[in-house]
Amino acid sequence: MEVNLKDEVVVITGGTSGIGKAIAELFAQNGAKLVLFGRNQEKGDEVAKSLGQNVSFMAVDVADHAAVDAAIKQILADVGPIDVLINCAGITKDKLLMRMDESDWDDVLSINLKSCYNSCKAVLRPMLKAKKGKVINVTSVVGLMGNPGQTNYAASKAGMIGFSKSLAKELAGRVQVNCIAPGYIETKMTDSLSSTQKQAIVDQIPMKRIGQPEEIAFVALFLASPLSNYMTGQVLSVDGGMIM
Ligand SMILES: NC(=O)c1ccc[n+]([C@@H]2O[C@H](COP(=O)([O-])OP(=O)(O)OC[C@H]3O[C@@H](n4cnc5c(N)ncnc54)[C@H](O)[C@@H]3O)[C@@H](O)[C@H]2O)c1
Repeated sequence: MEVNLKDEVVVITGGTSGIGKAIAELFAQNGAKLVLFGRNQEKGDEVAKSLGQNVSFMAVDVADHAAVDAAIKQILADVGPIDVLINCAGITKDKLLMRMDESDWDDVLSINLKSCYNSCKAVLRPMLKAKKGKVINVTSVVGLMGNPGQTNYAASKAGMIGFSKSLAKELAGRVQVNCIAPGYIETKMTDSLSSTQKQAIVDQIPMKRIGQPEEIAFVALFLASPLSNYMTGQVLSVDGGMIM
């Protein structure tokens, strides 16, 4: 079977950099009509333009319930029914819990986890009406195994998994909800780690290398396509073997 997303409407949050951008590139090559959510209008328009005429950008803060709801309504009216929603926007604010401020906790939980409530709530009814839809939530291996200095991030990513499994059970038969749990992937998010920290992570990876954003995009394409129609509520770790 050929993977063909021709004219499927796909919304990707955090779609202008790193993993989200790699997913956008691959999906654009496979014919999807893409709407990317991000924070910076100028940068977003530039990325969308570079990916072709089927790609557009909206500046939407994914933590803002009303803004996400309004943006989804606008897409439904202007572009058409949403076939695939990919929640990929995310941040880290790493600190040991002892030093973690309330704002470090709230920001990470709002952008990484509440965002999933916001976007899924907005696409739910239209997807159910169409009896068709796929939601892909980009979580992390850290949500499965924990990591010192990342209580806020790990809680948000573990929360995404519980959220996705519950929603998958609510919607089974009509909409599939699955997660991808990337391991250590080379993006802006991991750029700031020191070479010692990077080496320590690589030492924990059985395949002994960091992953590339495209390697996550291939799995997203599988989950967005009919090839995965009998899968829901799953977490696919794409991590060089870190979790097994
Ligand atoms: N890089 C890794 O090793 C790794 C590992 C596991 C999981 N992840 C997850 O993958 C996803 C993508 O991360 P990445 O590595 O590509 O990093 P990245 O920093 O390149 O991408 C994050 C994206 O989220 C967007 N974003 C942040 N806050 C936002 C907000 N309030 N509203 C809208 N958009 C917002 C940013 O603009 C950016 O495009 C994240 O959810 C991250 O937690 C990354």
